Amino acid sequence: MEVKNICCIGAGYVGGPTMTMIAAKCPSIRVNVVDINEARIAAWNDPNVDNIPIYEPGLSELVAETRGRNLFFTTEVNKAITEADMIFISVNTPTKTYGVGKGMAADLKYIELCARQIASVAKSDKIIVEKSTLPVRTAEALRSILDNTGNGVNFDILSNPEFLAEGTAVSDLLNPDRVLIGGEDTERGRAAQQALVDVYSNWVPKDQILTTNVWSSELSKLTANAFLAQRVSSINALSELCEVTEADIGEVARAIGSDSRIGSKFLKASVGFGGSCFQKDILNLVYIAQSYGLKEVADYWEQVIIMNDHQKRRFAKKIVKTLFNTVSGKKIAILGWAFKKDTNDTRESAAIYVADYLLNEQAEVVIYDPKVTVDQIYSDLDYLGTRSSQENRNLLKVVNDPMEAVNNAHATAILTEWDEFIDYDWETINDKMLKPAFLFDGRRILDENKLKDLGFDFYGIGKG
Ligand code: NAD
Ligand code: UGA
Repeated sequence: MEVKNICCIGAGYVGGPTMTMIAAKCPSIRVNVVDINEARIAAWNDPNVDNIPIYEPGLSELVAETRGRNLFFTTEVNKAITEADMIFISVNTPTKTYGVGKGMAADLKYIELCARQIASVAKSDKIIVEKSTLPVRTAEALRSILDNTGNGVNFDILSNPEFLAEGTAVSDLLNPDRVLIGGEDTERGRAAQQALVDVYSNWVPKDQILTTNVWSSELSKLTANAFLAQRVSSINALSELCEVTEADIGEVARAIGSDSRIGSKFLKASVGFGGSCFQKDILNLVYIAQSYGLKEVADYWEQVIIMNDHQKRRFAKKIVKTLFNTVSGKKIAILGWAFKKDTNDTRESAAIYVADYLLNEQAEVVIYDPKVTVDQIYSDLDYLGTRSSQENRNLLKVVNDPMEAVNNAHATAILTEWDEFIDYDWETINDKMLKPAFLFDGRRILDENKLKDLGFDFYGIGKG
């Protein structure tokens, strides 16, 4: 079967970039990306492609090439479902904030709503593709909703989890390490799987397209994230040990990573991993293991989160301790609010928790980030609920100019590894800050020796 019309439900960080890449590489396929969030769809349709809602290097150029040709962003969900032969579900699957599994399980209400909507609207056979990250065996629940409320049409369910990382979405989609497609081992299932293999084959080499059963595919996605996060927590755990032993975590990571069995990637000590997925997916994995009564498995993975929370807190505490155990009324500049460089996404960013800690200590916090909006920063803090939104606005300021942020600051903390910070005139910054000038580099992107020579009292993760 040849796919001619794709509908993607969810125009977020996954749906937007992945569908743009499919449209770019498969000009004969019409791709409709739909969302219930009207503002988001309007932003995707903004005549100025620089205003699309997601910042990713190279994405606006691809949108400019494909939008209106074979890529369309719309709120007409039912129409797009009706027309499609393949429907990707790319909606959010956040951690549940209520009821059974609160704080751990994935909230599948958005997935279920999509399934019900597809079932009620579809008048012809459809291939349904799970693109969102889902608990293992979700396809079973999807099948029962689709089959029991549908109009007698056939639905084939595939699992095709997304492995792109934010900030590098376009290059990850262009050259993926692998594309994973799980399907049912039936004649229809194999045909559906092949239809999706054919879509990706337009640009991904065949030996990088892995086909598995649905359950392996669903579980591989959760566990790939768990493995990656585990490496960050492992190196962060060692960073604390380095600080008390005069070992240097950069040197240790290089030595460990040179072993080809271990590999050098994902060994950068940091102020803690952020992002919308690592924490949510591990909590979900822990919950799934607990549900099957696998206590040791659950406890093992939970440590990854415990370590990460510890690292964020530890960094904030270090700032306070270094500033003579009090930051009340002291100005602290934070450079970087996004959870990593090259994205405007702030979900679960370590900066939110560090700022919250400092605000609790009544510090005067000033934020500068190259891509994150003022509204987003306040909404991240308001969401924590620690203080009223008025208090957040009184205590914390957001500025557009990094020099304004550091002016008269008692300390500057670099929390996101934006490249532009490396190129700043640190001599001038040192002059602007109060003396002694304390510099905290959560991800150690700056040259420590150079900065110490300039007179900074320098603190970087993982070195005593
Ligand atoms: P997101 O919140 O950016 O986007 C989800 C979108 O779905 C939102 O715009 C929302 O309005 C829309 N939506 C929700 N319910 C809808 C409905 N019934 N009809 C139409 N639209 C609806 O989320 P995201 O970051 O794109 O993540 C989506 C999924 O992909 C999650 O399961 C996530 O775990 C997974 N994932 C994310 C990334 C990433 O880098 N962000 C990478 C790999 C996998
Ligand atoms: C991660 C995975 O890398 C993707 O493969 C996956 O598709 C995605 O989650 C998802 O499912 O959402 P992402 O969260 O966008 O991607 O970004 P990463 O590059 O993985 O970084 C996550 C966090 O870990 C960031 O805060 C980053 O700074 C931190 N990190 C990463 C470190 O602290 N040290 C490292 O060595 C690497």
